[in-house]
Amino acid sequence: MDTTGTLLMPPASSTIAGDVDALFYLILYISIFFFVLVVGAALIFTLKYRRKGEAAVESQVDHSLKLEIVWTVVPVIIVVILFVLGFTVFMKMNIVPKDAIEIKVTAQRWLWTFDYPGGSNSVNELVVPAGKPIKLLMSSTDVIHSFFVPDFRVKMDVLPNRYSTAWFTAPDPGEHNLMCAEYCGKGHSEMLARVKVVSDREYTEWLQKGSGPPEGMSLEKYGEGLFTSRRCVTCHSVDGSVNVGPSFLELFGHQVYFKGGGQTVADENYIRESMLDPEAKIVDGFDPVMPTYQGILNDREIDALIVYIKSLGNQREH
Ligand code: CUA
Repeated sequence: MDTTGTLLMPPASSTIAGDVDALFYLILYISIFFFVLVVGAALIFTLKYRRKGEAAVESQVDHSLKLEIVWTVVPVIIVVILFVLGFTVFMKMNIVPKDAIEIKVTAQRWLWTFDYPGGSNSVNELVVPAGKPIKLLMSSTDVIHSFFVPDFRVKMDVLPNRYSTAWFTAPDPGEHNLMCAEYCGKGHSEMLARVKVVSDREYTEWLQKGSGPPEGMSLEKYGEGLFTSRRCVTCHSVDGSVNVGPSFLELFGHQVYFKGGGQTVADENYIRESMLDPEAKIVDGFDPVMPTYQGILNDREIDALIVYIKSLGNQREH
C-alpha cells in the first residue's frame, strides 16, 4: 500500500483508493496526449500555411469524410471506455459490503460525533479496525457538511433531515485526516478530525474502555482534556479572547447578560444547561450556534468540565 502519496495524490490508504487513482491518471494522461496532439497540430499548420504573400490561392477542399469519421469515432470510443470504468468504480464505492461495521456519523457546526455499535461515542476522532469494511451512516443536525478523508478517496455530503452513506476498508493501521469539505460557516476550517485505524484487538479494547478519568487523574485535569477532545476549544477560549462563543476565563461566578434582557450568575446549573440546551439562554453579543451536547457528554464528563471551567477563575473566591 502506498503510504507516501505522489505529487498529485495523498497516500492511498483504502481498498478503493487504487481504483480511483488509476481512473484519475488514465483521464489525466489521455488529456495530456490530446492536448499535445491538438496544440501541436495547430502550431504546425499555423506555421506551414501562414500567409506568405498577396497571391496565395485559396484551398478548394471543403471537407474530408475520412478525417471527420476518425475524430468522431475515436472520442466516442474513449468516452464509452471511461464511462464503463468510471461506472464500475462508482458502483464499487456505493455498494456497501454486507458484513460492514455500521458507525453513525453526526456532523454539526463545528464538530463530528461518531456513535459505535454498543453505545460508545467519540468526538472528532473516528476509531476503526484495520481490514474491516466500515459503513458510515451520516446526517447533520444543522447545515450541509461534507465528510472527506483524502487518504481514503472518500467524500460524501452530510445533510440535515436525510441520511447519506459511505463506506471504506482501510487495510493498514495508521492515522488520517478527516475534514469538512462543504463551507458551513465561521468554524468550517476548524471542522477537522482524525481517523485512527487500529488493530482488531485495540479496537475492541477501545470500545470497552469506559468513560471517566483514568486512574489517579483529577476531575479538573480530566475536564481540561475533554475541553479539547470534545471540541469546546473550537469556539471557546480559556485566555479571555472572544471567539465564536464566550471565553471561559473568569466565567464561573460572574454575571452573564443575555440577548434580549435577563441575566444570571454563571453557576453549575447554568453551565450544565448551556451544554445540554444551548439555545435556552444566549449570551448577549453571540449567535445561537452552539450544538447540544445531549447524548454526547455523560454526567461524569459534564462534572469534569464544570470543575475545569471553575478552575479558570471564580470571582466569589477572589
Ligand atoms: Cu462543516 Cu464545513
